[in-house]
Amino acid sequence: MKKKDFISLADYSRRELETLVKRALELKGGASPEAGKNKVLAMIFRKPSTRTNVSFFMAMKRLGGDALYLGNEALQLSRGETIEDTARVISGYVDAIMIRTFEHSDVLAMAGSAGVPVINGLTDYLHPCQALGDVMSLKEAKGGDLRKIKLAYVGDGNNVCNSLISAAGIFGFSFSAAVPEGYEPSSEIIEKARAENKNIELTDNPSDAVKEADAVYTDVWVSMGDESERRSRKNVFRKYRVDSSLISGARADAVVMHCLPAHRGEEITDEVMNSGQSYIFQQAENRMYIQQAIMEYLFKENK
Ligand code: CP
Ligand code: NVA
Repeated sequence: MKKKDFISLADYSRRELETLVKRALELKGGASPEAGKNKVLAMIFRKPSTRTNVSFFMAMKRLGGDALYLGNEALQLSRGETIEDTARVISGYVDAIMIRTFEHSDVLAMAGSAGVPVINGLTDYLHPCQALGDVMSLKEAKGGDLRKIKLAYVGDGNNVCNSLISAAGIFGFSFSAAVPEGYEPSSEIIEKARAENKNIELTDNPSDAVKEADAVYTDVWVSMGDESERRSRKNVFRKYRVDSSLISGARADAVVMHCLPAHRGEEITDEVMNSGQSYIFQQAENRMYIQQAIMEYLFKENK
């Protein structure tokens, strides 16, 4: 049987992903883990992380296993050892690998050479654990049928936006992204998602995107790796700030979401982040439960 990894939501069926979200909610409710005891996860970070690092570590602990933090300087990768050789070697020691890196192709290469499941902890292209955790949060915050929900995304058409669009295609919620020209999400991902769900819109107008929205989502204007564009990006994205005036254009009971870290005062105001509509910190907490569900599933499937 082919090894099962977790690299892109598009590699999974709707049924599998729905099961993972349901399981994550059960785990949050106190269900006992069914796999993961004594397993060890290697966590390779070529970019910084707070949530992914700590939530994966704690998810492994809660499954009864352990996790190993491997930062940029910790591995010979930083001195030119190949991804493929690193993958083969580490697979001989641990039971799963999570990697956060720049090039998406590096995660694919790692998965291709690793004998153990590989999890994408963010690339420049995708952030699938985030988006699936966000689906869990939407279900938790809004309940019921996700197909009746509209999620508006305001800001950069980045890795998080790409994975949210995949999620919209798979789970069937309406999605409207307001992004400036030149910063659109992947057209390939949009096309694929639209084949499953017609209600996926792209505009350059934040007020249009948030109309009738049940959730308004934003992310940083300068992602990790885009630092050299900071000045031009701050200028381009000025009109894409999520503030109370923008939120007042959404449904009165809309929740506000952000994958974090936030640059308060840039893409989101303090007022909105601290408001009663903010679901941002519950969203961060849910990362731990969705990753517990993902790893439990991978350990069971790859037995
Ligand atoms: N949202 C998220 O992945 O945060 P970190 O970069 O802190 O892991
Ligand atoms: N788009 C952001 C997400 C961080 C979790 C980045 O890639 O830096």
